Amino acid sequence: MKHRVLVVGGAGYIGSHTVKLLQNQGYEVWVYDNLSMGHKESVSPDCLIVGDLKDKDRLDHAIMIHRIEGVIHFAASAFVGESVTEPAKYYQNNVVNTLSLLEVVRKQGIKKFVFSSTCATYGTPDRVPITEDTPQNPINPYGETKLIVEKVLRDYARAYQIGYAALRYFNASGAAADGSIGEDHSPETHLIPLILETILGKRKEIEIFGTDYPTPDGTCIRDYIHVDDLAQAHILALDILKPGQEIKVNLGIGQGYSVRQVIAATEKVTGKKVKYKESPRRAGDPAELVANPAKAMKELGWKPKYLDIETIIETAWNWHRKHPNGFRN
Ligand code: UFG
Repeated sequence: MKHRVLVVGGAGYIGSHTVKLLQNQGYEVWVYDNLSMGHKESVSPDCLIVGDLKDKDRLDHAIMIHRIEGVIHFAASAFVGESVTEPAKYYQNNVVNTLSLLEVVRKQGIKKFVFSSTCATYGTPDRVPITEDTPQNPINPYGETKLIVEKVLRDYARAYQIGYAALRYFNASGAAADGSIGEDHSPETHLIPLILETILGKRKEIEIFGTDYPTPDGTCIRDYIHVDDLAQAHILALDILKPGQEIKVNLGIGQGYSVRQVIAATEKVTGKKVKYKESPRRAGDPAELVANPAKAMKELGWKPKYLDIETIIETAWNWHRKHPNGFRN
């Protein structure tokens, strides 16, 4: 029997890809989203409930009438830079509103809760690849808010038997293989979509933030994971979670690429040259973030399908070139 699932923030980038996979795999899915960042076009209208996380009555009603058995929680503010200048927004949206959601989850007796955490909870790690026992010392309010929720979940699991999975994402990228949905942030701050927008002539050039990092080519190294691989891990976690169980895993592919390597791979995939300029470092960027995903593979039975940056970029390019204005097309 497939679960009835509420996907909070399901109209966002990673949320909408997860919803699509859940539906393809026969789950009954409801999306709860205030559409502040999400796009109504990214999910089917018959499963969308437009509502705010703060609206406990609406959430409570949705969970009750749809007899929800598991919640996947994506809704959060997720710009590292903004979290430094506007921490209040991050503590409110990511901590206070999640506590509010958890009140409803607790009251309704739901025992499966899958949470979007982040590699930003590790701050600047003392070694890479990063394993889950690496000390979590965030260096920005965004990472801090996600770490706080991880701790709340640990305590709630022990006291109220809510089973949870804290999935620590590395760099989500790419788009659905059929080109139907993809990445559309406003403002866009992520490397791959920005490079593609430059190629499409929507931007004059891409800036490389920092060329003096202690890496082989001087630019930052990240672990780019395809959004569908990331999405599938949520479904696996949801399926196996037992009351009170705690799952904490990294989701990356275990392979890092520098900013220059990503630019080169994008040029290869698109067959076009990318105009770039070398700029100073961006505040809060660690030199290298690469996952050791062994624990996720073992505990969830997860196996990423996209192991090569060019294939990931190809799916993103497929989406961007057909939707140069994102969901506004
Ligand atoms: N970069 C550039 N130029 C740009 C944009 C990005 O050089 O115009 C570089 C960044 O400095 C970084 C890399 O490209 O080294 C990737 O940057 P992204 O903004 O695409 O992604 P981040 O690694 O900063 O962010 C991701 C997630 C966050 C998460 C963070 C953890 O999007 O939610 O990883 O560090 F918090």
